[in-house]
Amino acid sequence: MTETTKTIDILLLGSGGREHALAKKLAESPRCGTLYIAPGNGGTLQEGVNVALAEDDPEAVAAFAREEGIGLVVIGPEAPLVAGVADAVRAAGVACFGPDAEGAQMGGSKRFSKELMERAGIPTAAYGSFTDEEAALAYVREQGAPLVVKADGLAAGKGVVVATEQGQAEEAVRECFAGAFGDAGSTVVIEECMVGPEVTVLAFCDGEHLVPMLSSQDHKRAYDGNQGPNTGGMGAFCPSPKFTPQLAQQCMDTIFLPTVNALNAEGRPFKGVIYFGLMLTKDGPKVVEYNARFGDPETQPLLSMLDSDLMDIFEACVKGTLDQVEVKWKQGAACCIVLASGGYPVKYQSGYPISGLEEAGKTATVFHAGTKLGEDGSILTAGGRVLGVTALGATLEEAIANAYAAAKPISFQDMHMRTDIGKV
Ligand code: AMP
Ligand code: GLY
Repeated sequence: MTETTKTIDILLLGSGGREHALAKKLAESPRCGTLYIAPGNGGTLQEGVNVALAEDDPEAVAAFAREEGIGLVVIGPEAPLVAGVADAVRAAGVACFGPDAEGAQMGGSKRFSKELMERAGIPTAAYGSFTDEEAALAYVREQGAPLVVKADGLAAGKGVVVATEQGQAEEAVRECFAGAFGDAGSTVVIEECMVGPEVTVLAFCDGEHLVPMLSSQDHKRAYDGNQGPNTGGMGAFCPSPKFTPQLAQQCMDTIFLPTVNALNAEGRPFKGVIYFGLMLTKDGPKVVEYNARFGDPETQPLLSMLDSDLMDIFEACVKGTLDQVEVKWKQGAACCIVLASGGYPVKYQSGYPISGLEEAGKTATVFHAGTKLGEDGSILTAGGRVLGVTALGATLEEAIANAYAAAKPISFQDMHMRTDIGKV
């Protein structure tokens, strides 16, 4: 075996649809040795070895990586990043794809990201940040509705209220300070309400260079017509027809590069994926939110469209040589339909058997999220978002139709999916 074909063992952290998509893509690389997924799910078992390891325990992850001779640790979710797992892994001398705890603040703290954008002159909604309830309420009265009230910190996408009336905004402020989101609500960010279509752009980043992936669109509300509570995402597609080459260039100049340059200039070079949640307002594209990780479900259609070796890209990000790899995409489009447990994101039951997986897998890729292997070898539901049926097509319309057709044979008790992914 020559040096260039030497395989390395990988440890991937996480257990969602995003991690199944990452696992599948990594396992396809000729240079991927043993792939461990911690803790993984019922689908990642098809790509590698699931290990029972606390994904957000920095010392446990670093010890495993050292003892097993892991060559690269890849971190999927935000919690391990914020907990400092990347810092501990690097300190143990193991390469890691994912920012350190400080860099993860981009997604972990809304106040941190708003201040970063302010310093760098990056377009975003005007805002105020408060640790005092009375001051926050006074700001609400001064600004008037509509306003967006956000709990600082990680609230699993649930700490955001788009208030169309002043009373609603005041109530949201009181709830945050009353502890509705735990520690995440002790600082409250109140924003101007922006209007326009939302587009997500994820970008690989090596600390200096940035390579955007295809644009994508998520569907955050639980029910058709963008009704119901916010979820982690009920379906996604890429690329977004709304994100024209001209907008892409504008975002590169006014948002993407200024973000990377600001992080660099402030002494925290970012190695990993930056998630740019954008709103295309009449005054141009503005940042709704940053995350320091791949989006879920966006990663499922995105990696299905990636034509390059993901290991090459990750290693270039670690080494700072992203400008030397080609990140290639397939032609056409991809669409992912999330099949969720009825009642998600509020209250739902798990442990139900899933049927039709094999049939669906003939025409699409069925990424697993909340699934586990039952004692009899069957696949059972084990979470809110259960599966992500992801199909390709020559056009977006074709990809959507293919994904829905592939999802048809799948069933489990109380299964829920949106029927309008890609159409609203
Ligand atoms: P976030 O967790 O910050 O992404 O917010 C969740 C969702 O709330 C976003 O995807 C938007 O749909 C909406 N949202 C957040 N901030 C704003 C804003 N300033 N103006 C309008 N909508 C917003
Ligand atoms: N789908 C939204 C996210 O991952 O943040």
